[in-house]
Amino acid sequence: MSNLETLKKDEDAVILAHYYVDEEIQKVADHVGDSFYLAQTAQNLTNNKIIMAGVYFMGESVKILNPDKKVLMVDSEAGCPMVDMVTVESIKEMRDKYDDLAVVCYINSSAEIKANCDVCVTSSNALKIVEQLEEKNIFFVPDRNLGSFIAKNVKDKNIILNDGCCPVHDKVRAEDVKKLKEMHKNAKVMVHPECRPEVIALADYVGSTKGIILESGKGGDEFIIVTEVGISAKLKELYPDKKFYFVEDFICEDMKLLNMDKLIDVIKNDKNEVFVDEEIAKKALKPLERMLIMGAN
Ligand code: 13P
Ligand code: SF4
Repeated sequence: MSNLETLKKDEDAVILAHYYVDEEIQKVADHVGDSFYLAQTAQNLTNNKIIMAGVYFMGESVKILNPDKKVLMVDSEAGCPMVDMVTVESIKEMRDKYDDLAVVCYINSSAEIKANCDVCVTSSNALKIVEQLEEKNIFFVPDRNLGSFIAKNVKDKNIILNDGCCPVHDKVRAEDVKKLKEMHKNAKVMVHPECRPEVIALADYVGSTKGIILESGKGGDEFIIVTEVGISAKLKELYPDKKFYFVEDFICEDMKLLNMDKLIDVIKNDKNEVFVDEEIAKKALKPLERMLIMGAN
């Protein structure tokens, strides 16, 4: 048994990792996945310590789903800038304006925002969940790009957008993808819905990181991948004979703050524990649980 395995056993710890963290961490994690898979997995863990190898909102969601467990971040400085791009006040204003309104919140948000919304979604289930809602008006926060993607695909709703985005996905331009298409004419274009609408318009497939990984296994030998480069680890592992081309410098710096030394230190020394205010956590649990039911695959 490796040192890390012994440490995990001694500390009764389990490691959850997102596809965007470095390959070395994905390799030693017990569960690797997209945001929805990580939330689903977090529901059923029996270990005392849950180590989140991802960004802070992911640790918060795990803590809300597991209030009695110790949730530790590999690096608590690793955050998602999109989380700060919506305010509780803007949600209150929208609720005052519309009677028939559902506030739908991307899981990339703070516990406080979740506590003020009606249902959470991730990039893998947003369409499915919004389609099931009874309300006509949907205030979608914080991501305007994922919100626009929903508006384009769910016709009978009035989707109200909030001006937030993922700075990493939003940076990609249609020109970047067109250049890659010129170079690799037979490649299928796989795009994450956090990208701009004009980038999504170039896609053969639009989906979450897990969706892109699964879809790449179905058909085709070459793919232009329009999301964070961390998913190349799983793509190479699953499909060693296929070719994957990435947009240059597609890196989430926050996810890359994590490394093996920090991971070991956190498990050993109980560092970076996640705390969520009890009242907020109770309120935020409802939209998260609603997502897990409505978005179940
Ligand atoms: P998914 O994990 O849903 O693909 O989202 C990607 C992301 O940006 C996570 O922060
Ligand atoms: Fe946030 Fe974008 Fe990084 Fe995901 S990739 S954690 S959305 S900044």
